[in-house]
Amino acid sequence: MLCQMHASKNMKKEIKRERHAWWKEAIFYQIYPLSFYDSNGDGKGDLPGIIQKLPYLKELGVTALWLSPIYKSPMVDNGYDVSDYDSIDPTFGTMDDFVTFINRAHALGMRVIIDLVVNHTSDQHPWFLESRKSRTNDKSDFYIWHDAVDGHEPNNWASDIGGSAWTWDETRQQYYLHLFSQHQPDLNWRNPRVKEEIFAMMRRWLERGIDGFRADMGNFYIKAEGFPDAPRAPGDTRRYIHPEGLVANQPGIHELWHEIHREVLEPYNAIVFGELYFLTPEEGLHYVGYDRKEMELLYQYHIMDARGRWPEVTEAVRTWAEAFAHKAWNTITFSNHDSPRSVSVYGDAMHYHDASAKLIMTFLLTAPGTPFFLQGEEIGMNNMTVSCADELTDIKMRSIYEQRIASGEDQGAVLADLSQWNRDNARTPMQWSDAEYAGFSSHTPWLHVNPQYTHINVATQQKDKHSIWHYVRRLIMIRKYTPALVYGDFMPLFPDNYIMYGFARSDKDETIVVLFNFASWDNYIAVPDVLRTQRAQLLLCNVLSPRPITDNTLFFQPWETRVYSVSH
Ligand code: GLC
Repeated sequence: MLCQMHASKNMKKEIKRERHAWWKEAIFYQIYPLSFYDSNGDGKGDLPGIIQKLPYLKELGVTALWLSPIYKSPMVDNGYDVSDYDSIDPTFGTMDDFVTFINRAHALGMRVIIDLVVNHTSDQHPWFLESRKSRTNDKSDFYIWHDAVDGHEPNNWASDIGGSAWTWDETRQQYYLHLFSQHQPDLNWRNPRVKEEIFAMMRRWLERGIDGFRADMGNFYIKAEGFPDAPRAPGDTRRYIHPEGLVANQPGIHELWHEIHREVLEPYNAIVFGELYFLTPEEGLHYVGYDRKEMELLYQYHIMDARGRWPEVTEAVRTWAEAFAHKAWNTITFSNHDSPRSVSVYGDAMHYHDASAKLIMTFLLTAPGTPFFLQGEEIGMNNMTVSCADELTDIKMRSIYEQRIASGEDQGAVLADLSQWNRDNARTPMQWSDAEYAGFSSHTPWLHVNPQYTHINVATQQKDKHSIWHYVRRLIMIRKYTPALVYGDFMPLFPDNYIMYGFARSDKDETIVVLFNFASWDNYIAVPDVLRTQRAQLLLCNVLSPRPITDNTLFFQPWETRVYSVSH
């Protein structure tokens, strides 16, 4: 009861302060275009394929789409290596297809943001091809070039995929920096001409009608002045060290985002959703605080980094919610194209696939912040086992595999580990039906289809009203029509219980109580005060016959979750 009274008192203040915005109310769905739907039978997803599936997305109820890169690219990192920012890669279609896609999505009431990949380009981008020709050409300072130091790389920085972050260029007789693969040279954001080019390119996309960008590596653009060595922990004998502290959140990054916001985004009323690594909530506030005018939303890796440990997830949600309350807006996400499948990490995909997939989606759609989910989460797509090295297609995973094998690790153990954490898990073709290639394509797909498609697929689940798909659709509907789930205050309910978890979301009209059993066994808990009223109404539950409340105790089945509404 106390919680509830406290909530409604607070809410009165909040309603006045919290300005409504589409991106606070949105339910974002990430499309990984290569794997969504192949319309022309070449084994790769494309824009006309996405257009065909827009009514599907409308029916599911999502209101905003995040499209992973569709720019022209040699596809070394599946499009996160752009060779022309103003063309659509022929794999995906044409600019006309893109414009048609935007118009149709808008006509169906869905907003669209696209990936903005400007920490680096492809090494095939004309800017880099020119930059590497000499030290004096027109684009010579578009990238980060450095002389050798004592015949070696300028510092000990490691790239994200292992090895040095510097590659020697024979023609220029200099090293260039690449925080990712050597085919992804980092742009030199300290050069005002780079800034101008990128700003102009962003405006051209805004003119094409998009609603905003997802900023890939958005806090990495500016590197530490002087390129000092990354600090080495005592006993660390590795030659190259990841330079997070010297490339993330560096002086100048906030001024830059502020400028992007003012010069590029504001005139179009567009938003930015930043992929920001290595952030404390306090640092996060510097990017998305309402007073900052830099970004609207940021990605919280704290949930994905918890790697399935629910106490860490709930702790991260609590700390970020507290830090951001009335000062900034949160997001919530369990997976994206760089992570394993959420049900395989946070649920029990083996024994309680259905219940645990539904529970994860319940958490996602009821916890504070704008929810983002990845194509396939609405049917509980899960990880697939990698049985041989040839099945690793992703540049990062291949490189990790090679390094671990070279360091003498057992091949079976490495493959088992990578099966769990491999980025390809998130990228296998969307499972539309139990037809050949999961109904994704009429041709062998670019990446193997998860064999589970025979029973985990859209068509089968749409026919079954108890399926994950129908559950997610209902959840989305509930979220859309329940302001407390968007703007309501957040209060964790059982602070010391890590298995039975719950929270309340309250506004002036109602309190929504969401309860979870994060375990593959039965559990029970005393009925929270807020539910001890006739007004408590069960809105949704993920098991078919939830046990009634007896003796003030709530009994939960494995991975059970319930959503209650208590009107005030
Ligand atoms: C981001 C992307 C990832 C990509 C990397 C380099 O982390 O999400 O897929 O490999 O940036 O662009």
